[in-house]
Amino acid sequence: MNTLEQVRQREQQYLLSTYARLPLLAVEGKGVYLMDSEGRKYLDFLAGIAVNALGYAHPRIVRVLREQGKRLMHASNLYFNEHQGELAERLARITGMERAFFTNSGTEAVEAALKLARAHGKLLAPDGSKFEIVALENAFHGRTMGALSVTGQAKYRQAFEPLLPGVRFVPINDEAALAASISERTCAVILEGIQGEGGIVGCSSAFLRLACQLARQHQALLIMDEIQCGLGRTGKWLAFQDQEITPDIVTLAKPIASGFPLGCMLARGAAANAFQPGQHGTTFGGGPLACRLGLEFLNIMEEDELLNHIASMGNLMLHGLQKLARKSKSITEVRGRGLILGLQLNRPAKPFVDRARDLGLLVNATHETVVRLLPPYIIQPKHVRAALAILRQSFAEVESGQA
Ligand SMILES: Cc1ncc(COP(=O)(O)O)c(C=O)c1O
Repeated sequence: MNTLEQVRQREQQYLLSTYARLPLLAVEGKGVYLMDSEGRKYLDFLAGIAVNALGYAHPRIVRVLREQGKRLMHASNLYFNEHQGELAERLARITGMERAFFTNSGTEAVEAALKLARAHGKLLAPDGSKFEIVALENAFHGRTMGALSVTGQAKYRQAFEPLLPGVRFVPINDEAALAASISERTCAVILEGIQGEGGIVGCSSAFLRLACQLARQHQALLIMDEIQCGLGRTGKWLAFQDQEITPDIVTLAKPIASGFPLGCMLARGAAANAFQPGQHGTTFGGGPLACRLGLEFLNIMEEDELLNHIASMGNLMLHGLQKLARKSKSITEVRGRGLILGLQLNRPAKPFVDRARDLGLLVNATHETVVRLLPPYIIQPKHVRAALAILRQSFAEVESGQA
């Protein structure tokens, strides 16, 4: 087997330098644990950034992968496949939407949502004047040019500007700024129920309700990006589901096919009929293997009653983190719901995350000063206790200057 150093050197020569990788060569995963090339075992509370929600190598997922792999992996969207419509129906029921479009990633789901919003705007205003989009500062919606255009963080955007015209950014939960930014020129408002990359920051109920009401009033579409916070992560199917809002479009991705690439954009009402045949499409999106894995993910979520489990594990974790925060001089706030949690620090998060990894726990630093936790849905109380013990140790050591 190649060593970490050999892999690093080859990548340095042959890969574009897009990733500042950490010194860990991942070789195997089982349940809630990730193993590296040196035989170290990590309790993985990041889960491939919210993707491995059922843990690694779930036996039911591996079985479907084998069965469908032998049967049919890809035939293209020129033909029908047995599973795409079925998965669309299941997701429509969960989200309250009507129709789906499948993609290979989160950013493509957002891309589809933006194109749909533009097409809908054009139907309402054929002169092309209804094209503006309202998005949030610190939002993260992806790296392709459209999704990047609504991503409100200079570090991701700057090198690629000019991006899409007509995007207005407002601070999260600033109702006056939101009201001032929406007009008859707006074709969509795009929000994350909980900003993930932006540091686990949730929209207030009042802000969400206002966004929904203003979008209706101006015939703009409300897009909820649930790629990181959706599909069970908060203990509900969708992060916005306990709010009194009905979006027009929902985007999903990350955990949906348990590690196999799959994303989805769902729409309802007039938006669901705004694309004409040929206006949008993809070669890979919604292939039979990806969709069967998506169906199995939903089956497991329902049969194992994971939503309730996520809520109770989330409470246990939250309680433990709050206790840690009371003893720590670096943690100023604990945020999140279910199994999307963040520790706001008054200093860079990286040293704490690095020490936790040395001690056998994977979490990550986002937005510089936030420790982000996105554990798999299958964690048990013993894993929560183990993770908290490691976090306690890493905070104690880093704060006292021992690490
Ligand atoms: C809320 C949100 N939207 C979109 C994306 C982009 O997804 P992908 O990396 O699969 O393109 C992400 C990725 O982290 C995300 O968190």
